[in-house]
Amino acid sequence: TDYSLTVHPGRTGPAIGDSMYGVFYEDINHAADGGLYAELVQNRSFEYDRADNAAYSPMTAWSEASVSGGTGSAGTVDDEQRLNERNRRYLRLDLDGAGDRGAGFGVTNSGYNEGLTLRRGERYDFSVWARTDRPTGTLLTVGARTADGAALAEPLRITARGDRWTKYTGTFTARTSAADGRLTVTAGGSGTVRLDMISLFPRDTYKGRANGLRKDLAEKTAALDPGFLRFPGGCIVNTGSHEAYEAPDWERKRSYQWKDTIGPVEQRPVNANFWGYNQTYGLGYYEYFQFAEDMGAMALPVVPALVTGCGQNKATDDPALLARHVQDTLDLIEFANGPADSTWGAKRAAMGHPAPFGLTHLGVGNEENLPDEYFARFTEFREAIEARYPDITVVGNSGPDDSGATFDRAWQLNRDAGVAMVDEHYYNSPQWFLENNARYDTYDRQGPKVFLGEYASLDNRFSNALAEAAFMTGLERNADVVELASYAPLLADTNDAQWRPDMIWFDNEKSWGSANYEMQKLFMNNVGDRVVPSAASSTPATTAPITGAVGLSTWATSAAYDDVQVTGADGSRLLSDDFTAGDAQWTKAAGRGTWAVQDGAYVQSDQSAEDTLVTAGDTGWQNYDMKVKATKKAG
Ligand code: AHR
Repeated sequence: TDYSLTVHPGRTGPAIGDSMYGVFYEDINHAADGGLYAELVQNRSFEYDRADNAAYSPMTAWSEASVSGGTGSAGTVDDEQRLNERNRRYLRLDLDGAGDRGAGFGVTNSGYNEGLTLRRGERYDFSVWARTDRPTGTLLTVGARTADGAALAEPLRITARGDRWTKYTGTFTARTSAADGRLTVTAGGSGTVRLDMISLFPRDTYKGRANGLRKDLAEKTAALDPGFLRFPGGCIVNTGSHEAYEAPDWERKRSYQWKDTIGPVEQRPVNANFWGYNQTYGLGYYEYFQFAEDMGAMALPVVPALVTGCGQNKATDDPALLARHVQDTLDLIEFANGPADSTWGAKRAAMGHPAPFGLTHLGVGNEENLPDEYFARFTEFREAIEARYPDITVVGNSGPDDSGATFDRAWQLNRDAGVAMVDEHYYNSPQWFLENNARYDTYDRQGPKVFLGEYASLDNRFSNALAEAAFMTGLERNADVVELASYAPLLADTNDAQWRPDMIWFDNEKSWGSANYEMQKLFMNNVGDRVVPSAASSTPATTAPITGAVGLSTWATSAAYDDVQVTGADGSRLLSDDFTAGDAQWTKAAGRGTWAVQDGAYVQSDQSAEDTLVTAGDTGWQNYDMKVKATKKAG
């Protein structure tokens, strides 16, 4: 078939904003600690805990070390001698004074994954908080070696004096490169030495910032020339308890509360990440604002709306708690935009940025499955923000799907209330993206603008990138409705990723962009000024089989896939025989599987994971790991 495209350069289409394409950053897939955050020491403040991950302990990534026969005992303690209320555990070394001259006893850190990555000729900044009860002081020796014990740098020697917490620093240059580095801190003599916040940063961070970002990852992100940076997530924003940090029994699985993440790093509490690992908050709100500014991107933070999504459908019913979060959000705006002598602006200034960051947009909520409960709380945030800061665009959310009852209800509520902008999220098959190029052609031009905050076709193959590109032409054509769009998620550690696909992949030493990354880069580096109207003679029929990974929730909620039947390899029934739109969704699979469904009948499967069917009303989840092949039903 021949197709023709008629372009109408004389006609005027919608203007395309400079901020149209941005990035969605979430601390998922170890994107922060061990990733974008350049800290090389894992568990630097001994706060890892079983509550974060069943495999963790306060000594995770640490082991005892001895030099020249030095002996003693090492253990973590949480007592009155702690560094501060929010950094509670520390390392206590009781030294025997044994061994030869120069003897020492202490600990070694093995970094993230295979070790600390050190590069020949580069400088590394070491720091530690220490106190000693030895009247003459304690000599600390800091060494960097490979896993096999080969020295990587000249050791640092630091004398700690006095039994009050003091920060000590030193810098060394790596003599050789290694990806399996170990950092050892030993103490000589006798007595009790307490250590905390044992840290090693490359001097060469993105833009040279202290407490900064891993350069290759930040540079790859910046190379996209993003119009905005949405942070800090995703599911980590709105899941978990919304209570404040309250020592000593604080809840570790708490929603992302921005006040926990600013100020001196040694005073920031840790959290247990929704994705199953420890979150130090060393990379916090100040650093995100700074990163956005350094990339020339608009900062777009998202705060919890006190209704959890992401499988935890729970609306918090506590007016005082809600009021506190609303106030925290007002304080966040002051932190970003207030003068340096305002309460929260002063905290920003104290961290090194007296000038305002110029916040203009702020999201409230992420993928809530309870639209009415969500919107009631969203309204409280919105009214308070608009009353105090009328120039801030408050972004509402439309739930976790591209369509369906929750989506429709959320949109209706946002539309009726005249919300300025609504966040949409969807992860679908490449075929879906090809078929939905016209999605926004029919959106109400007078209604809320769209922030397409998360989307991806479910793999990192070239065909996925191509399908996304085709879809993005539809976003751009509708730039008068779709004002912001970001592929998701941004970063993934190959050693432990909770979500696929992702835009940029990394290990300890290197990083690489996916095909999807290259496609985003192409669009983001070439944002047009204005759409030139065009018309195609026709478009290819979309009767081809759907291939690629598909979120089953798409099937569950899309009328196009009504009555799909899915059975397991052994013939067991995994979805009801009379599966109808919206009546069932899949939970996240533990592994991957390949499925084939044709004309409503199951034809092939090599399912390797245990998948759980959840029924109507249960928690919805996108089974992004599931491979599906199917033919769209007639009509
Ligand atoms: O991008 C990964 C996850 O997808 C986000 O955390 C969540 O918002 C969505 O379900």
